[in-house]
Amino acid sequence: MSSAAKSIYIHIPFCSFACHYCDFSKTADLSADLIKDYFSALTANITANLASLSGELETVYFGGGTPGLFTSEIGGLLALLEGKIRSSTEVTMEVNPNNLKPENFSYWTSVGINRFSVGVQSFQPKALKLLTRDHGAEQTDKALQILQRSEANWSLDLIYGWHDQTLTDWKEDLERALSYKPAHVSIYNLTYEPGTPYYLREQRGVLKKSPQEIEANMYQLACQTLSANGYDHYELASWCRPGKKSRHNSKYWDLMSCVAVGSGAHGFRLDASSSFSPGVRYSYPKNLKSYMNSWQEPLLEEGRRLLDLVLEYGLVRLRTRKGLSLADLEQLAGSRLSQKLWSALTKNTKMGLHTSESHLVLPEDQWILENAYLREFHSCLEKAFKDDR
Ligand SMILES: C[S@@+](CC[C@H](N)C(=O)[O-])C[C@H]1O[C@@H](n2cnc3c(N)ncnc32)[C@H](O)[C@@H]1O
Ligand code: SF4
Repeated sequence: MSSAAKSIYIHIPFCSFACHYCDFSKTADLSADLIKDYFSALTANITANLASLSGELETVYFGGGTPGLFTSEIGGLLALLEGKIRSSTEVTMEVNPNNLKPENFSYWTSVGINRFSVGVQSFQPKALKLLTRDHGAEQTDKALQILQRSEANWSLDLIYGWHDQTLTDWKEDLERALSYKPAHVSIYNLTYEPGTPYYLREQRGVLKKSPQEIEANMYQLACQTLSANGYDHYELASWCRPGKKSRHNSKYWDLMSCVAVGSGAHGFRLDASSSFSPGVRYSYPKNLKSYMNSWQEPLLEEGRRLLDLVLEYGLVRLRTRKGLSLADLEQLAGSRLSQKLWSALTKNTKMGLHTSESHLVLPEDQWILENAYLREFHSCLEKAFKDDR
C-alpha cells in the first residue's frame, strides 16, 4: 500500500450518442471547439500532476465516455507522459465496437496503447436497441475479430439484467463473447441511475428491473460458464485468463494512490507522511464546462476519518478472491485496532468468512450481496473502534 501514485486515470467524456442508462460524465456534443477546449484543459491538468506521479508508471487508463472516438488527441496526451511510460506499463483504452477499425487500431498500438476494453454490452439486437447503443452486433463481431487476430491484451464488458432479458439471452451473450477468447471479461448488472432517461422510464413502469432471483441466476450462470472456460473470478464483476488481471483496476482494490484527471474523475492519495491517516479522495465536476473552469481546484472529500478508509477497504475487498488481509489492515489502521476488528470479524457468524491466519474471504457466491456484508463489516468496525478507545 504505497502512497506514491504510479497510476493515472484520464477521462474522455465524448460519445457519439448518450446511452439512456449511462450516468458517467459524458456528452454527445462533438463540436470542434468543445473538443479542443476540453483537451486543452486535460493537457494542463495532466501537466500540473506530473510531479505527483512518481517515476515510472505502472498503469495508465483512458476511460469514458468514448476515448475510442479519438486518435491523435490520445497520442498527444500520451506524449505528455513520455519518460514515465515503459514497455511494462499497462496502458488501457476503452473503445466502443464501432470505433475499432484497422487504421485506428494500428494508430493506437503505435502510440503505446497495449490493452483495450471493449463495451460490447450484448450481442442481441433487441438488447442493443433497448440499451440505445449506436452499434449493431455485426460491428461488434468485426471489432472483436480485429482484436482476436492481434497480439493485444483485451477485455470486454457485458451488461445483464435488462428489461425482459431471459436466462437463454444471457447464455447466448456469454457464449458468443467467449467464442472470441478475450483475456478478460467484466459483467455489470444494469443499474437504473437517478437522473437518467432509464430511471424515469422505470419510475413510470415502462421499463422494469429484472427480479432479484433471476439476476442472481444470471450471475451464477456467468460464474459457472466463465470458470468452465478457464477464467479466474478475481473480483465481483471481473474474470481473467491466468496473469491477465486488470492491473489498473487492481490498484483501486488494493487502495493504492491513483491520480485522476478529467470531468467526473475520482483520485486517491494515501498520505506519505503519516501511517494511520485516512488519505485524500478528490474529484472533478461531471459537467464539462464546470470541469474546464475549475480543474485547478478539485473537490476534496471533507471530514474523512480513518474509519472511512478501513470501511472502503472492506467494501472493495469483500468482493474479491484475495479478501481481507491482516497485514493490510495493520498497515492502514495499526496493529491494536486491526486485531480487535479481526477478532470481531472471525466471530461474526452472519458473514461466514473463510478464515486463514492471514486472510478473511467471503465465499464467491456471496460477493453479489456485498451491501448486506458491508453493514456487518461496518458494525464490527465500529465495535473495534469503541473497544480501542
Ligand atoms: C461508462 S462505460 C464507458 C465505455 C464505453 N463508452 C461503452 O459504453 O462501452 C464503461 C462501462 O460501464 C458500464 N455501465 C455504464 N452504465 C451502466 C449502468 N447504468 N449499469 C451497469 N453498467 C453500466 C458498461 O458496461 C460500460 O461498458
Ligand atoms: S455507456 Fe459508454 S457510449 Fe454510452 S453514454 Fe455511457 S460512456 Fe457513452
